[in-house]
Amino acid sequence: MRKPFMAGNWKMNGTKSTAKEFIDNFSLSAELAEKRQVVICMPFTLLPFWSEYGGEKNPVIEIGAENVYPEPKGAYTGEISVDMLKDTGAAYCIIGHSERREYFSESDEFVNRKMNALLDGGIVPIVCVGETLEEREKGITQQVVGKQIAQSVIASAGEKDLSGIVVAYEPIWAIGTGKTATSEQAEEVCAFIRSELDRCISTAAADSIRILYGGSMKPANVDELMSKPNIDGGLVGGASLNAADFSRIAAFEE
Ligand code: 13P
Repeated sequence: MRKPFMAGNWKMNGTKSTAKEFIDNFSLSAELAEKRQVVICMPFTLLPFWSEYGGEKNPVIEIGAENVYPEPKGAYTGEISVDMLKDTGAAYCIIGHSERREYFSESDEFVNRKMNALLDGGIVPIVCVGETLEEREKGITQQVVGKQIAQSVIASAGEKDLSGIVVAYEPIWAIGTGKTATSEQAEEVCAFIRSELDRCISTAAADSIRILYGGSMKPANVDELMSKPNIDGGLVGGASLNAADFSRIAAFEE
């Protein structure tokens, strides 16, 4: 059984005071906290504070980063390595987010290098994939997502143990638009991703890799999305900034 995984992506939002408010107000029953994994991925600047204050005050929330550089150290001004992330207490890291692919021209090959570096360092990668509206309308969603999965994830099959990674399917047209994919649309692509993992890595890996849906997930649609067999959790942007909303999302009804 795959443990449901609810992750927030704070993107370029948050200061120590908003983080503190969130930590003070997020709540999940002890019973659900046992059964679910709850993660907030945040700007680098918040990780040390959250690790210390949140670790003490609300330890049910694990922490992650939103980016990493694949080289171990050296002359890469402004970048952050896997070891530096580990030093903050981060246990997860988002890679391949569509905003990074679009605004920072990140390729599948680069995402794959980041995934390998994270796996070598013991941080769980959350690898994002997803199609644009134009690609969906052209009917090439599976082609696009299949290629992203092949080049960013499956490329490392044989070299790395991929069974612990997390994959997030985020249709770009649903991100920050308020327009959620229907649960059928989301399930269809998540099932396709799992079948590719099964076909190209192994059935055991496909059975254990958590596949998340992301794109305007909120309290009003989480229960329906989570009712689908291949959707193991969510990667939540806007609604993860509000402690009450994210508490409700993490406490989705089975
Ligand atoms: P929204 O939930 O704001 O649509 O963002 C989704 C996302 O990009 C998470 O990574």
